Amino acid sequence: MLRIGALVSGGGTNLQAIMDAIDKGTIPDAAVELVVSNKKDAYALERAEAAGIATGIISRKQFENSADFDKALADTLLSHEVDLVLLAGFMAILGPGFFTHFENRVMNIHPALIPSFSGPGFYGLHVHEAVLEYGCKITGASVHFVTPEVDAGPLILQKAVTVRSGDTPEILQKRVMEEAEWTIYPEAVRLFALGKLSVQGRHVVISE
Ligand code: GRF
Repeated sequence: MLRIGALVSGGGTNLQAIMDAIDKGTIPDAAVELVVSNKKDAYALERAEAAGIATGIISRKQFENSADFDKALADTLLSHEVDLVLLAGFMAILGPGFFTHFENRVMNIHPALIPSFSGPGFYGLHVHEAVLEYGCKITGASVHFVTPEVDAGPLILQKAVTVRSGDTPEILQKRVMEEAEWTIYPEAVRLFALGKLSVQGRHVVISE
């Protein structure tokens, strides 16, 4: 069975989409074993508790430096024998030390078509504000394996979403979630669970 650990900071709608896909059997033979937040009031923690999943709070403020924060997160995930780590709205940057334990086993969802509108500073509503300011006609979401460079790891799945006239950042954020994020993140986890993803340099090859 695929043992999943999720790192969260906010609402947890992507986490919910993945828990639902596991419950429905769309993602076979998998379980979310642990949800860790760096914010104590993250609603994602309530979603996990409601589903009977173990939760924890690990905040950067508890540690003198980022390396110790990374180590605490990795140790907690390893103690739950997690095979796959999902960043699901996790608003902290992980350092290289974290990835030594989970090479090609950390995924993230980004609310734009990487490499556009990605990298440091592109998070939350800022992404959608920038898309609208630029005048883009399409945007979307990307699931990728995570490397120490922000939003730069190998892409797994992407889905385009239309930008409509009159969109506000909030309206666009909601459409990107509904039409792209909640579909492609569970699908990427399903492909991982089935052993269909292989990383070859920058490329993720999806087998039939
Ligand atoms: C999503 O827009 C995701 O793309 C980004 O952070 C947001 C998290 O939302 N990384 P939620 O916590 O899953 O509702």
